[in-house]
Amino acid sequence: MKKKLVVLSGAGVSAESGINTFRDAGGLWEGHDVMEVASSEGFRKNPALVLDFYNKRRKQLHEVHPNKAHTLIAQLEDVFDVTVITQNVDDLHERAGSNNVIHLHGELLKARCTQNENTIIRWTADITLGTLHPTTQQQLRPHIVWFGEAVPAITKAMQIVKQADYIIVIGTSMQVYPAAGLIDYAKPNAPIYYIDPNPAQLPHLSNPVEVFPLKGSEGMKIVVENLIKINEL
Ligand code: OAD
Repeated sequence: MKKKLVVLSGAGVSAESGINTFRDAGGLWEGHDVMEVASSEGFRKNPALVLDFYNKRRKQLHEVHPNKAHTLIAQLEDVFDVTVITQNVDDLHERAGSNNVIHLHGELLKARCTQNENTIIRWTADITLGTLHPTTQQQLRPHIVWFGEAVPAITKAMQIVKQADYIIVIGTSMQVYPAAGLIDYAKPNAPIYYIDPNPAQLPHLSNPVEVFPLKGSEGMKIVVENLIKINEL
């Protein structure tokens, strides 16, 4: 039986692939206030701007590739039963080969009708005002969880974290809840490895915690070596 390993990833894991993080540029994301383009209120105020913003992010997926951190996370499946719980909306974990990925904040390559959140479909093209959901014939929107909206995947994510034997937290400023609260559900003896060049202060936990103030690829290399050694003991 493989031990269970959970990876909690944020924007920083995709930084070395060339995707900007949210908070490193002083709260601006690709030149926009995060709340302007990533909140339900922002969408109500200026839907055309928000749709255009996600069209650009979706197009950017053609120009970027998984980096070493994504690849090492995928390779952990050789040894562990791995679930990746990501706040990211890109598909780089999947492209690197990870098989179990939960996207807490939605996915750029999915869309849904503005009137019904249960109408999620795969979508690769641009969405503009007037692009309709093929079934409901209502305005389409990106399948992104914006500020002000519920995070449906969080319940499943909590259950998975509760069962983890090891946890890796990588590339997140741990500022956005409920995602940042997931480590509170870790078993008290499950080691937590936190990789981030500018790590946040983690809440007080009884778990053994090791912080690696490094880029994702560098930190993952060390953590993988450690994990494989521990697992062989
Ligand atoms: P943030 O932009 O808040 O944090 C990114 C983290 O990545 C920071 O702690 C950086 O220090 C770290 N970082 C930068 N370069 C890195 C590298 N090369 N390797 C590893 N880490 C690096 O991003 P998140 O914590 O993911 O939500 O943000 C959480 C949520 O806030 C996002 O999912 C998004 C945003 O608003 C929605 O859009 C709903």
